[in-house]
Amino acid sequence: MIHNHITYPLSELDMQMVVSVPQGGNWKNIPLSVPSKRLEQIRKSGGRTTLYGRLSWNKPSFTVTTYFNRPGNGTYVHPIQNRVISAREAARLQSFPDDFIFSGTKGSLCIQIGNAVPPLLGYFLAKQIKKHTKTKNVVDLFCGAGGLSKGFEWAGYNIIAANDNYKQACETYRINHPNTTLVEGDITKTEVKKALFNEINNKRVDIIIGGPPCQGFSHAGKRLVDDPRNFLFKEFVEIVKQVKPKVVVLENVEGILTMNNGKSFESIKESFQELGYKLEGKKLHAVRYGVPQKRKRVIMIGVLDGDPKECYPTEILQDENKYLSVREAIEDLPEIVVNGGRHIIEKVTKPISDYQKFLAGKITLEDFEKSLYRR
Ligand SMILES: C[S@@+](CC[C@H](N)C(=O)[O-])C[C@H]1O[C@@H](n2cnc3c(N)ncnc32)[C@H](O)[C@@H]1O
Repeated sequence: MIHNHITYPLSELDMQMVVSVPQGGNWKNIPLSVPSKRLEQIRKSGGRTTLYGRLSWNKPSFTVTTYFNRPGNGTYVHPIQNRVISAREAARLQSFPDDFIFSGTKGSLCIQIGNAVPPLLGYFLAKQIKKHTKTKNVVDLFCGAGGLSKGFEWAGYNIIAANDNYKQACETYRINHPNTTLVEGDITKTEVKKALFNEINNKRVDIIIGGPPCQGFSHAGKRLVDDPRNFLFKEFVEIVKQVKPKVVVLENVEGILTMNNGKSFESIKESFQELGYKLEGKKLHAVRYGVPQKRKRVIMIGVLDGDPKECYPTEILQDENKYLSVREAIEDLPEIVVNGGRHIIEKVTKPISDYQKFLAGKITLEDFEKSLYRR
């Protein structure tokens, strides 16, 4: 049984466009005769070449966003089937194992998967942090479905508590992290914080991880914690202030380091410096850590003792030719025939690549890791 291997219906117009795009192609391959207003707009404004894109078997995918169900929003069409990728295929491109089951509506799967930190990236990060710090217990704030948590678990960490306010992501989190106490609710609410503190009070918390949403970071001016738009970042800082873990890890979008000519990042740094942390920020390319996806995220690491620079994992794959491909990620998954809204899943094939074998639970993480170093 392959969980969440469900795709998303295409409108007739979208289907007309999708069939005319070859592997590696995009909206530029769609004939002018296709009557699409959106396409007209894209043509006029010279839209990004990822739009209406079709994945290439032999390359990694582009970033899997929360819109992978919409062909016009990125490169989400299957390399050889006329449909967008299924939720499981998106999860594979994000390095979630096949036994990680996503709960919720089809639309919510896009949000949960697209928002996640690839577990494999989380794993290499966690492993390196473990090498340099004596740490074991973790709290995951803004945990979502739990991609980052999964990576830390793989590295042997114990996630003692987690929080999110998105019901469907919380359901997924509970299913896949049975040993973690999940506090569901808005972190700004006193009773939610109380429940979280009740959970962690008697335990030693070594690391707080999480990616507070950063809508207000792009506006310069006062300190980030004083800007009311950054209320969620402020919550994160307040919780760190009270718990005082040895390490903090924050995940954020690629642009955070350069936003506002670097002033936003300086302000983040200051917020943690005031609490005694030395903080660094670095852009990590998931594809260089064995994830078959060109996802880049900024990971900020703050430590009370030592040098945060030592907590960043060394890249494993630097040569583009060695990156894992879409083929290695999803080729073994059964074909889905999109047939008048019904999805008929055809033959199930066996995992072929080491990546597929690992995600299907046929080889260990250790063996998969060795295979990465051999590439
Ligand atoms: C980028 S996602 C986190 C992804 C997660 N780290 C992972 O790897 O799967 C950010 C999360 O913040 C949560 N969030 C936003 N506002 C929140 C609030 N007020 N209280 C708690 N969680 C919140 C969202 O529901 C979302 O799941």
